[in-house]
Amino acid sequence: RRIDWTPMMAEKGGHKHFMHKEILEQPRAVADTVRGRMLLTEGDVHFEGWNLTPEKVRSLSKITILACGTSWHSGVAGKHMIETLARLPVEVELASEFRYRDPIVESSHLAVAISQSGETADTLAAFKEAKSRGATAIAICNVIGSAMTREAEFSVMTNAGPEIGVASTKAFTTQLVALYLLAVKLGRMRGTLSVAAAQEHLTHLTQIPKMIEDVLKCEPAVKRVAREFMNAQDFLFLGRGPMHPVALEGALKLKEISYIHAEGYAGGEMKHGPIALIDEKMPVVVIAPKQPHVAYEKIIGNIEEVRARGGQVIAVIDEDDAQVGGLANHVIRIPAACALLAPVVATIPLQLLAYHVAEMRGNDVDQPRNLAKSVTVE
Ligand code: AGP
Repeated sequence: RRIDWTPMMAEKGGHKHFMHKEILEQPRAVADTVRGRMLLTEGDVHFEGWNLTPEKVRSLSKITILACGTSWHSGVAGKHMIETLARLPVEVELASEFRYRDPIVESSHLAVAISQSGETADTLAAFKEAKSRGATAIAICNVIGSAMTREAEFSVMTNAGPEIGVASTKAFTTQLVALYLLAVKLGRMRGTLSVAAAQEHLTHLTQIPKMIEDVLKCEPAVKRVAREFMNAQDFLFLGRGPMHPVALEGALKLKEISYIHAEGYAGGEMKHGPIALIDEKMPVVVIAPKQPHVAYEKIIGNIEEVRARGGQVIAVIDEDDAQVGGLANHVIRIPAACALLAPVVATIPLQLLAYHVAEMRGNDVDQPRNLAKSVTVE
């Protein structure tokens, strides 16, 4: 009897592309990032091999995150997490820029490299540079034994499992979760989080795998949006606060695999330039779950500005949002997570949007043109 499948198809587990499989794997991947690390009763986080003493952590004056591409976007979200929970200033540096200037690095700085592969040349060079100038150097990485983990004094492994699709999906969401755990750990060690507060933040985290399962059910709705806009020439993605990196990531995902020009912007920046792009042909994805510290009316304002110019609004909103539904042309509803973890949930419809647009356009989703999974050259 003839066997109608190849080992490659078996690895894809019935999915047409690795990217689709990896998007759907995220509830499991994120649970694996958390497993064995969350100490709910103690209100603490355990990282195997953690070697930063309480004195060292209390003496830190700054965190410098070094990363590229999607990993840089997770760093931008990580800045919100660490600054909120550990009250430590965080700078998020593009590794390719950091390595070629004369950066200010002190021994009281903690350099955190974020990399799925652990082999990205620019991130590795920036990380070595920070280390050689006296920073304590730790990595958030998905590949055990990679160059980044060998260079690091300590590594938080993301445990996402192998990511084959060139467009990063589960690596990104697991990085966000690893950063959240790191922020809670630093907050406890620096005394900015009480046991009770840490327990509350960790409890939010326990809900995330189920929320990802729930948000994945939006796929049919996302597919309808993809069909309507698959021939658009440009897309704009807007988000405020912790949703800003989600907007950046949504735009990067779309351009990487669909080859449609896309820009991610902080909502408040729209009036400083990109508003000029808006016409009736322009789809604008507004990532608008309700968030504390981000005035909701400002997001509504962005939507109204787009609609007033004829733009097509696709809004990613909370399940129970009653306000935006009537303003947007299309809505994608997602479960409401706490503000710092909402990027994990809100990114998933954008991954699916990029995937379905690219698939409908007949593109090679897993191996987009001109891109490599791991950029080991300058
Ligand atoms: C993500 O979809 C990209 N393929 C790319 O931006 C990637 O995130 C970047 O090259 C960094 O890779 P790393 O995480 O392996 O260092």
